[in-house]
Amino acid sequence: MKAALIGYGKTGSEVQKALGLDEHALFNTSRPPTLDALSAFDVVVVFVPGEAFLEMIPMLLSTDLRVVSGATGVELPDDLEDECVKRGRAWVVAQNFSPAMHMIQEALQWIGAHPDWLADATMSLKEVHHKEKRDAPSGTAKRWIEWMDTRDISVTSQREGDALGLHELSIETPLERVTIRHEALDRALFAQGAIQAAEWLLQSGREPGLYSMKDVVEGS
Ligand SMILES: NC(=O)c1ccc[n+]([C@@H]2O[C@H](COP(=O)([O-])OP(=O)(O)OC[C@H]3O[C@@H](n4cnc5c(N)ncnc54)[C@H](OP(=O)(O)O)[C@@H]3O)[C@@H](O)[C@H]2O)c1
Repeated sequence: MKAALIGYGKTGSEVQKALGLDEHALFNTSRPPTLDALSAFDVVVVFVPGEAFLEMIPMLLSTDLRVVSGATGVELPDDLEDECVKRGRAWVVAQNFSPAMHMIQEALQWIGAHPDWLADATMSLKEVHHKEKRDAPSGTAKRWIEWMDTRDISVTSQREGDALGLHELSIETPLERVTIRHEALDRALFAQGAIQAAEWLLQSGREPGLYSMKDVVEGS
C-alpha cells in the first residue's frame, strides 16, 4: 500500500508508526499536501481538524487517490457522495474507526426500532475526550443519537486531560437500567481501523462512492 498521511498529531502519528511512513508521505500545516506530492501515492489517510478537512476536499477530489478521513466536528458537503460517484472516487469517512462501533450501531438501531420499550425510559449520554478536542458533542455521540433516532436524550460532554474517548449511554426505566459503554484504551485503535479502511478501499473492484466504517466492517 502506497499511503500518504495528512495530519500526524495525536492520532495520525499512530498511523505513521503502524505503516512505518517516512517524511515523504507525511503532510501537515508546515508541509501542506499538494497535487504533485500526492501523485506518488494510491491512498491518503487524513487526521486533521474537521474545518481543515473541508478545505482540502476539492483538492482531494481532483486526485484519483482513495481517501480515508477521520476528521470530525463538521458536516460533510451534501453533494460529496454524488461527487465521489461522478468522478469515480472511493472514500471512507468515519467519525470513529473502532470496529466495535458497528456492534453498537446494531444495538442502538434496534433500540430506535422499538420505541415502545423506551416509553417509560430516561436516556442520557455522556462523552469524555481530551481537553484539546474542539467539537462537542463528539461526532460519535451524534451518531449514537442518530442511530437511536431520538431527540429525547440528555447529552453531557466532558473534556479531561488526555482522555482517549469514552461514550456511555444509560437507559433507565422504573424497573431496570441498561448501560452501553465504549472506551478507547489506545489511539492505535483508530489508526488500525483507518488502515483497515484503506486496505478495503484498495481491494480490486471497489466501486466509487462515499463509504462508512460499517461498509468496511461488513466487508460489503
Ligand atoms: N474518526 C476517528 O476514529 C477519530 C479518532 C481520533 C481523532 N479523530 C479526529 O481526528 C482529527 C485529528 O485529531 P488529533 O487528536 O490527532 O489532532 P492533533 O493532535 O491536533 O493533530 C492534528 C494534525 O492535523 C494537522 N493539520 C491541521 N490543520 C491542517 C491543515 N490545514 N493541513 C494539513 N495538516 C493540518 C496538524 O498539523 P500541525 O502539527 O502542523 O498543526 C496535526 O498534524 C480530529 O478531527 C479528531 O476529532 C478521529
